Amino acid sequence: MNRTRIALLAALALVSGTAGTAMAALPTGTGTGASAVPCTVDYKVQNQWGGGFSAAVTVTNHGAAKNAWAVKWSYAGDQKVTQGWNTRISQSGAQVTAANESYNASLATGGSVSFGFNATYSGSNALPAAFTLDGVTCNVDGGGGTDPGPGPTDPPAPGTRVDNPYAGAKGYVNPEWSAKAAAEPGGAAVARQPTGVWLDRTAAIEGVGTGMGLRDHLDEALKQKGAGELFIQLVIYNLPGRDCAALASNGELGATEIDKYKRDYIDPIAAILADPKYASLRIVTTVEIDSLPNLVTNVTPRPTATPNCDVMKANGNYVKGVGYALNKLGNAPNVYNYVDAGHHGWLGWDDNFGPSADLFKQAATAEGATVGDVHGFIVNTANYSALKENNFTIDDSVNGVPVRQSKWVDWNRYTDELSYAQAMRNKLVSIGFDTKLGMLIDTSRNGWGGSARPAQPGPRTNVDTYVDGGRYDRRIHLGNWCNQAGAGLGERPQAAPAAGIDAYVWMKPPGESDGASKAIPNDEGKGFDRMCDPTYTGNPRNNNSMSGALPDAPLSGQWFSAQFQQLLKNAHPAL
Ligand code: BGC
Repeated sequence: MNRTRIALLAALALVSGTAGTAMAALPTGTGTGASAVPCTVDYKVQNQWGGGFSAAVTVTNHGAAKNAWAVKWSYAGDQKVTQGWNTRISQSGAQVTAANESYNASLATGGSVSFGFNATYSGSNALPAAFTLDGVTCNVDGGGGTDPGPGPTDPPAPGTRVDNPYAGAKGYVNPEWSAKAAAEPGGAAVARQPTGVWLDRTAAIEGVGTGMGLRDHLDEALKQKGAGELFIQLVIYNLPGRDCAALASNGELGATEIDKYKRDYIDPIAAILADPKYASLRIVTTVEIDSLPNLVTNVTPRPTATPNCDVMKANGNYVKGVGYALNKLGNAPNVYNYVDAGHHGWLGWDDNFGPSADLFKQAATAEGATVGDVHGFIVNTANYSALKENNFTIDDSVNGVPVRQSKWVDWNRYTDELSYAQAMRNKLVSIGFDTKLGMLIDTSRNGWGGSARPAQPGPRTNVDTYVDGGRYDRRIHLGNWCNQAGAGLGERPQAAPAAGIDAYVWMKPPGESDGASKAIPNDEGKGFDRMCDPTYTGNPRNNNSMSGALPDAPLSGQWFSAQFQQLLKNAHPAL
């Protein structure tokens, strides 16, 4: 096992323009005294520009307490340290020595110290292969034996992140979802599609009841992978005070339980993902659906505010949780973090669009995360917004009245997910996210096919007849989100379908409910949201419209056969 950790570190190098991280997989059992790793060094390139970079280093001492310390590493390239902070840093040839300042000289057993520096480089900015603390090699088990270096039995050494993890790779088929889909009449047509694995509670890491846990899925993914490349899609979904504007997907953690989120949920997931055994998988993580957008649109003084979203904004736990997740999950070089960016029918208005992008940046730079921890963003997760409305555009007008003024569009800047995703991508790059940012669009249930799909634009009687007669999205209101009547499967999952888009994905597994249509007691923290009740007449978030939900739905996440059948029937493209 020494070997694999060294191989992991040695093989790390930077993709140009993408910040990188070197960190040994923390041995499981850290903190129990079982670990023989004497020290860990987390070296993270936080920012990189032409010819220069800045890095943050965190050293954790697992040995005896110290009154002074020095960390050393060597560069393979021509990196030259120019300036440090919280350390006295110097360089001789390729070797760098970072020693304590007087004020951070003591380092307890289990204690950590962080410092940073700026440096110049040219060519590639490969990460250092090894670190020592006071002469002792860190990040590897110091248990004695001599390590012969990478050998033929080691798992494949992980490389740098590829630009698009979906390109040239097959997708992981979740056997549990696949079996349910295949058991439905007609379901075999889609049962081999890759869908998201939702880690929607702490117990999902080990597996709920007899269900598969995270390692079970990753082990199965290795089997499905064979000799080629494979991506597996995980949904990180367990923030404190989850789902603050709704009730159907409230979770197990209370609004203040950020420490539990970090310790019991993110840390164990990050440790599993960093296991060298899984280094050959491309692991896509979509981080915390709906949370940050709620802090923009559903807080005071908006008429759509909810008390719970006000609480989450005030306590900062969504921002902290997302930042922490990005930072920790981003430590594994084969993990690709995609942050949730709502959908056009939520954030497409000018008042929401820019502030959301700014909030995403804030979260992506919280709790030690950097924009380099964000590979991309996902839109339309578990929602129903159409991919592309072909029968009208945002620039059309009818009798001199612009489409933006129609009741359906209601001054939104976008009419569909593709235009929204591409615009959001540009906005995010403009405020400092990586120029290679990739977007995902969840097309699991936005097909809107079947007999109700308009074949042509609506009549030009007025702007509303034109838009309503032509739109594919048949919802009563864009703000409706629960088990929508009339929806169909959308575009099949596919890589690089359009400019700036890494993939169309099925992150929400088709056939799983969005929420129960009546109150159902449960031990998951899930409430009853009347947006899932077909008799509900709405609230300010859907302009007091009917909910449009299917009747007789089970709890969110549970199998909903009638919905699955409807999705098959209304699939577009047709099956
Ligand atoms: C539910 C989760 C479920 C997910 C996927 C969410 O709405 O809250 O429990 O895993 O949907 O179906």
